[in-house]
Amino acid sequence: MAGARPNFPKAAPVIRALADRGIRQHLVHTGQHYDERMSDVFFRQLGLPEPDQNLAVGSGSHASQTGETMVRLEALFRESRPRLVVVYGDVNSTLAAALVAAKLTIPIAHVEAGLRSFNRSMPEEINRLVTDRLADLLFATSPDALVHLGNEGIAAEKVFFVGNPMIDTLLANLHLFEASAIGRQLNLPDQYAVATLHRPANVDDPGDAAELVKVMHGVADRIQVVVPLHPRGRENLAHAGFFRHPGIRVIDPLGYIEFLSLVRGARAVVTDSGGVQEETTVLGVPCLTLRAETERPVTISHGTNRLVTREELVESVTGLLSAERRTDGWPVPPLWDGRAGERIAEVIARFVGTD
Ligand code: UD1
Ligand code: UDP
Repeated sequence: MAGARPNFPKAAPVIRALADRGIRQHLVHTGQHYDERMSDVFFRQLGLPEPDQNLAVGSGSHASQTGETMVRLEALFRESRPRLVVVYGDVNSTLAAALVAAKLTIPIAHVEAGLRSFNRSMPEEINRLVTDRLADLLFATSPDALVHLGNEGIAAEKVFFVGNPMIDTLLANLHLFEASAIGRQLNLPDQYAVATLHRPANVDDPGDAAELVKVMHGVADRIQVVVPLHPRGRENLAHAGFFRHPGIRVIDPLGYIEFLSLVRGARAVVTDSGGVQEETTVLGVPCLTLRAETERPVTISHGTNRLVTREELVESVTGLLSAERRTDGWPVPPLWDGRAGERIAEVIARFVGTD
């Protein structure tokens, strides 16, 4: 089951590894994300199979999106009675699938279990808490996740530390990430920064968006900033004059290969994304995360990530620009080695058995 952009790079290696083991799969796309650049391009570039079903749920409030997904999934699961439902990450599609499967007593595997921001005003935190509570197999990407699940009373036998399937996808495609090619395509200077912004806390409120625009313009005074903009914040950021600074280059969301190529060549990344914190860690690109906390602390302890406030951002970017750029090897979080999909498939194969 997959539904939104961050699900696709996580699902690709798991689906491949399950197929290698001969496990019969049925891929459901909920349709939470539906634009070519938010969905289709990932299926093409990551070699994901065509979904067996697209529920075409689309956008809406939390309740309507989650509820509509549940109604459509319930009909499907009742008919097909899968032996296991595999869900990814922390989006509304993840929660909806977990709730429906649990009520139909179908076992659930949660890939990327145990991440916690401890900020319940984030919709993703609610989705993670509930999904983990209901899951029968919990696949963790980092050691902190094991601690959280233990603290929440989840039985250790259900929890598996497997590494990070998002990073499997990154490592499998690394040879395709050509910073120079995307630089030429977008006509970029040698030194540029990349920004991705879509968290409700940053872009939903017009006042917050205006503050954000002010500091991003401060960054753009120092370095060209390329912004593949998520549709969520477009209107508020545009209204606050984001596009008006000559140092800000807003473009449509990029395909996976183009996006990671752009990030690989960047001097710095400013983001509020979850996945981008992880990807910059492995690519060794400095990352400034515009959030008060992260559910991915391993990207700070083992990686290139730093949390910054809006007030700190310009100074932090200025500091990064005067620092040496890392060019040789660097440590990455444990088990982020490109084999998480295989480990997950091994556990699932044991769980479901073979026909
Ligand atoms: C969702 C996830 C978030 C994740 C993000 C990744 C939830 C609660 N949030 O947020 O955790 O970080 O995806 O990208 O599930 N839209 C389009 N085209 C699309 C999809 C969305 O234009 O293909 C626009 C619509 O105006 C929509 C808005 O984006 O209302 C928000 O989409 P939605 O799926 O509700 O949440 P995201 O902000 O994308
Ligand atoms: N991504 C992409 N093109 C873009 C922005 C992001 O291919 O223009 C990829 C990138 O690999 C990222 C993933 O989409 O890790 C999910 O990103 P997003 O920020 O949407 O979701 P989050 O991880 O915050 O839930």
